[in-house]
Amino acid sequence: MARFGGKQGSRKYVLALSCVSLLGIALVADFLWASSSSSSSSSSLSTNSPYYWSESIGASLDSSIAVASKASKSSKVKEALVSKGLNATFADIPAPQLEWEKMAEAPVPRLDGAALQIKDQLFVFAGYRTIDEVHSHVDIYNFTDNTWGGRFDMPKEMAHSHLGMATDGRYIYVVTGQYGPQCRGPTARNFVLDTEEKVWEDLPPLPIPRYAPATQLWRGRLHVMGGSKEDRHEPALEHWSLAVKDGKALEKEWRSEIPIPRGGPHRACVVVNDQLLVIGGQEGDFMAKPGSPIFKCSRRNEVVYSDVYMLDEGQKWKRLPPMPKPNSHIEFAWQIVNNSIIIAGGTTEKHPVTKRIILVGEVFRFNLDSMEWSVIGRMPYRIKTTLTGFWNGWLYFTSGQRDRGPNDPTPKKVVGEMWRTKLHL
Ligand SMILES: *[C@@H]1O[C@H](CO)[C@@H](O)[C@H](O)[C@H]1NC(C)=O
Ligand SMILES: *[C@@H]1O[C@H](CO)[C@@H](O)[C@H](O)[C@H]1NC(C)=O
Ligand SMILES: *[C@@H]1O[C@H](CO)[C@@H](O)[C@H](O)[C@H]1NC(C)=O
Repeated sequence: MARFGGKQGSRKYVLALSCVSLLGIALVADFLWASSSSSSSSSSLSTNSPYYWSESIGASLDSSIAVASKASKSSKVKEALVSKGLNATFADIPAPQLEWEKMAEAPVPRLDGAALQIKDQLFVFAGYRTIDEVHSHVDIYNFTDNTWGGRFDMPKEMAHSHLGMATDGRYIYVVTGQYGPQCRGPTARNFVLDTEEKVWEDLPPLPIPRYAPATQLWRGRLHVMGGSKEDRHEPALEHWSLAVKDGKALEKEWRSEIPIPRGGPHRACVVVNDQLLVIGGQEGDFMAKPGSPIFKCSRRNEVVYSDVYMLDEGQKWKRLPPMPKPNSHIEFAWQIVNNSIIIAGGTTEKHPVTKRIILVGEVFRFNLDSMEWSVIGRMPYRIKTTLTGFWNGWLYFTSGQRDRGPNDPTPKKVVGEMWRTKLHL
């Protein structure tokens, strides 16, 4: 099993730490990266293994399983990184611990689902349950009485994860996304949900399927940009829009718009003060192992960004101040509160030595009055692709994949927990 490969890796790593120079560490890390990708690709995982999920998507594909926890605990390694000038963007940023209250858990755990809030309801869509099982339904959380309910089905043809989504306050527009489990590719099919009648309709398909594109409604048009191409990995720069009103497309085809300077999936896309902003994200992602009949996920290089772009008058992309650290997997992890954008959790750059995936546990604020970023607090744990809501002064988050513990920022359990904290901006 891949986990075994990871343990081997950690022994090599400890050995390296104790007897060779920093240069040696870097070389061994490169070797681990190469050797464990081959060991993980030859592994066969059983669906009832307790390590199944994390092995599959978060950990073993990420090169060396036991290494990061050792590394993050070791102040030697931290000092070494600093003295060698290695990039420490993976580190937690000091932040106050907010007071969090645990609410009712979602009916199912989910990863890479989607959620949008309409008044006192959070509509939560799709997502992986395990790497081999995806959801095809909607759950609703009611912020007034803090309960879950109202489950209904999604159309059979609708993607199950990595969707683009936007709402006008009644209709929810659902764009492309990954169809099926593991690392299958995206569909071009688009839908619209009338949240009052719970009725689904079709929208014209995208010119080309996209994986986790930035999506938002802006000045009467549904904008879809970036994401990955059909292999899930290669960043796409294209940007399309479609005129929509009250759940109907006003045009038969998508219109080409000015391409985004940096493509890639998992960004926050926000319209605020009549401006369209695209925040964070990454280039590259897991993709299907060539020839795998189940499209088995296999890790590829990813680079995470802190970039913020604004579509100035729809004519050109303008850079705004970047996030305090690179951050991705935040497409539904943001809220607008008192002229600030609040972003909870995510993933940052991989650990520079171990190459492990590093989750984010900070709550960020972008103050649109001062155009400044800050870190306003820490979550109960680090988590990616979490789904947020805001109601009566409370910031809520549910679902996603959380860390292994306070001292280990690598991904493990997929959760359905719901938490809230009172915000004071
Ligand atoms: C660290 O990485 C980030 C994101 O990749 C990059 O923007 C930044 O310039 C890097 N810093 C250093 C000191 O290399
Ligand atoms: C949410 O719960 C409250 C209290 O039970 C109820 O009055 C309200 O109608 C619910 N909202 C929706 C949209 O069902
Ligand atoms: C937003 O601003 C209002 C008015 O200043 C204030 O009463 C409220 O507490 C603020 N909300 C948050 C979440 O800080």
